[in-house]
Amino acid sequence: MSASNGTWDSERPLGVAVLGMGNVGTEVVRILRDHADDLRARVGAPLVLRGVAVRDVSKDRGIPAELLTTDAEALVARDDVDLVVEVVGGINPARGLILSALNAGKSVVSANKALLADYTGELAAAAEANRADLYFEAAVAGAIPVVRPLIQSLSGDRVNKVIGIVNGTTNFILSAMDETGADYGDTLAEATRLGYAEADPTADVEGFDAAAKAAILASLAFHTRVTAADVYREGISKITSEDLETASALGATVKLLAICERVPAGPGEPTAAEGGKERVSVRVYPALIPRKHPLASVNGAFNAVVVEAENAGRLMFYGQGAGGAPTASAVLGDLVMAARNKFYGGRAPGESVYAELPIAPIGDTLARYHVNLQVADRPGVLAAVAGEFAQHGVSISTVRQQGHGEGARLVVVTHEATESALADTVAALAEMDSVTHVTSVLRLEGTEE
Ligand code: NDP
Ligand code: HSE
Repeated sequence: MSASNGTWDSERPLGVAVLGMGNVGTEVVRILRDHADDLRARVGAPLVLRGVAVRDVSKDRGIPAELLTTDAEALVARDDVDLVVEVVGGINPARGLILSALNAGKSVVSANKALLADYTGELAAAAEANRADLYFEAAVAGAIPVVRPLIQSLSGDRVNKVIGIVNGTTNFILSAMDETGADYGDTLAEATRLGYAEADPTADVEGFDAAAKAAILASLAFHTRVTAADVYREGISKITSEDLETASALGATVKLLAICERVPAGPGEPTAAEGGKERVSVRVYPALIPRKHPLASVNGAFNAVVVEAENAGRLMFYGQGAGGAPTASAVLGDLVMAARNKFYGGRAPGESVYAELPIAPIGDTLARYHVNLQVADRPGVLAAVAGEFAQHGVSISTVRQQGHGEGARLVVVTHEATESALADTVAALAEMDSVTHVTSVLRLEGTEE
């Protein structure tokens, strides 16, 4: 029986265009088709797949060939398309396709963190101007609902910090290296086979993907536009099995962390209490964390995000951070929201960047460090090395000597110091005759001083 809520007739289909049918798009199309009746009941009107844009229409994708097209622009422009799902990835042509959709008043769901990290301002403005919705839950941490909690559930609170594991591929690699001593290259190939890695996995292993997600999380948490260029980034490509063994000996493991936090105004600037502004520090790097820390037990392609808010306290979001089906779950959640808005006449919340907090340079950031040095095995070396740390104002928590002769090593763990003080210390250590090699420098997170 046909019914109308005054905005949309329940028999009138909501047409969906899916752009991209790779790891994620394949699962989006499957769910749309397999769960059509449930989706209809949840939305109020049927969601009908109008077409799927791909590069290669000759591949058998298990759907009627007439649904496939290489002309994504024409698909987006069709009169019977109301909702567009963008799961192509990359900046172009995704950016232009999303803008075309929004400018035509069509709502968009995207999983494209690389695009959203840098262009949310432009896309959100187009959505606002055309009374369309832009949803992107799947862009951060796969299946895990964390975008909507930040935008909606926590909109009455004040978020101070977000820390998490937001890249499934690198977590899959680090977990395998830690648990079985697996080879880095083999494990990356397996992550690609399982559909976790980006089209160019450099984005994963060099931390670009996590940095894009950190930029999105920081923008939402601090109501400030943060782009990928604002995020300090180191990947995992230099992490060795020796780093993981050293971590293990310390009762720790290594994780690629994304950290977004409010930090005080810069040195010499008025504090927030004096009318100045707090700043935002956003960084992605591999760090040692104690095995008893909740993030240490997040393994494989799982992700977890911890949000610390003034009133809610600490919240932890955990689940599958990558892979076709988990990501498609988040996409479909957004699609149902966008479709309900069309049906009932509602709107998604727009971009909120009113706070405009400045970005703190990485040099001002405080952390503890684990510095591994290959040194000459002779009297006075330990004192000379300790002297260099003191000279740069970096206080040492523990020093251990390992091995003798050629294999002599010093493992120094510091108290909190700024990144710039640590960088100056490391540069000075590298110049010392008695230091053969600065083998690794890793931050320590989640430890007490
Ligand atoms: P894939 O590389 O598996 O799929 C990309 C799809 O886009 C393919 O079907 C490809 O066509 C199609 N495509 C590429 N260029 C064009 C073009 N110019 N016109 C039309 N179609 C095009 O990517 P994923 O599915 O893994 O990822 C898609 C998006 O989702 C990315 O933004 C990614 O970052 C994001 N994401 C991915 C996750 C995952 O676990 N994989 C998790 C969270 C987000 P063809 O098949 O013919 O090559
Ligand atoms: N390549 C990404 C990852 C996909 O490994 O986390 C999920 O965003």
